[in-house]
Amino acid sequence: MSVDLGDRSYDVHVGAGVRARLSTVVPAGARRAAVITQPNVGWDVDSGLDQCVLEVPDGEGAKSLAEVERLCREMSEVGFTRSDVIVAVGGGVVTDLAGFVAAVYHRGMRYISVATTLLAQVDAAIGGKTGVNLPQGKNLVGAFWQPHAVLCDTETLATLPSREMRSGQGELAKYHFLTGDDLDALDLVERIAAAVRIKADVVAADEREGGRRAILNYGHTLAHAIETAGRYDLRHGEAVAVGLVYAAEVAMRLERIGADRVAAHRRVVTGYGLSDRLPTVLDDDEELLALFGRDKKAIDGLTLVLDSDRGVEPVVGVPESVLREALAAVR
Ligand code: NAD
Ligand code: GLY
Repeated sequence: MSVDLGDRSYDVHVGAGVRARLSTVVPAGARRAAVITQPNVGWDVDSGLDQCVLEVPDGEGAKSLAEVERLCREMSEVGFTRSDVIVAVGGGVVTDLAGFVAAVYHRGMRYISVATTLLAQVDAAIGGKTGVNLPQGKNLVGAFWQPHAVLCDTETLATLPSREMRSGQGELAKYHFLTGDDLDALDLVERIAAAVRIKADVVAADEREGGRRAILNYGHTLAHAIETAGRYDLRHGEAVAVGLVYAAEVAMRLERIGADRVAAHRRVVTGYGLSDRLPTVLDDDEELLALFGRDKKAIDGLTLVLDSDRGVEPVVGVPESVLREALAAVR
């Protein structure tokens, strides 16, 4: 399937073993491939080009300007040019970082993502949001820079730690509510493909998040607040899972959806083995409400992405009393 963006359109391949297609999707004219990956990933790729492997450290800390500089220096020493290609092999940390290096090295070169986590396959590797973190916050420096191709090799999920798998399932749960598609009826590979299709359509309609792309942040307002509050180890998708249920509880109190739809949110989330409740240590409503206001996606007062009969959409000015009541419902 493809992400349709005119002359920047690209294909996303989903399935077991699709990383073997790498040599068939490298751009014409590329002579070298810089394979950017992490020690924990452990999946080799063969681009068919003169290839060098550049490892970055494991974990979110690798998304830094220091790593961008180090990678660019190493590529410069090897002699990479704008016509060569970067191949990102890993999860969202690697695809965000390598995609940003591709956006800035020699003013922009092509990159291919071989996504090896569930979260990267259904979200991070698609759509061209690339970037790194600052000490002041996540993803504060970046670029919209679309890949040349994406390979979501479901075989690589076999080695993914179960915690990382669950985190990806939190993002996958989101897609159950973005369209009328029945993801329940699909097996995992078909669900990944369905999520890719949904994300590809949203990105094609609104590449730079002028409007519709905001629906991909469904469940993320509470999730970002949970992550910013910190104090315990919760993976992003685990936070999104409870965030989805919270958004449903808010929508019900605004009479946008009924109790049956809230129950469907809880069923999907718990069906993936994820919790539909806030961790008990996060017992301070005031702290969470204050963090909602700092969500960088807030446009005018507090905007939440909420479900309705018409589908999921951003809603401006949700009353504080509703936000408080819904918090009680996820405790
Ligand atoms: P991650 O990239 O940190 O990967 C999780 C861990 O799994 C790492 O230790 C990694 O080395 C390891 N790993 C990766 N593939 C493996 C495999 N097949 N087998 C064994 N281990 C493997 O985490 P993630 O959840 O994939 O990505 C999180 C990042 O994605 C965050 O930085 C987030 O900001 C970003 N993100 C970006 C977008 C976007 O649109 N650009 C969307 C969502 C998330
Ligand atoms: N992960 C949200 C987006 O790509 O817009």
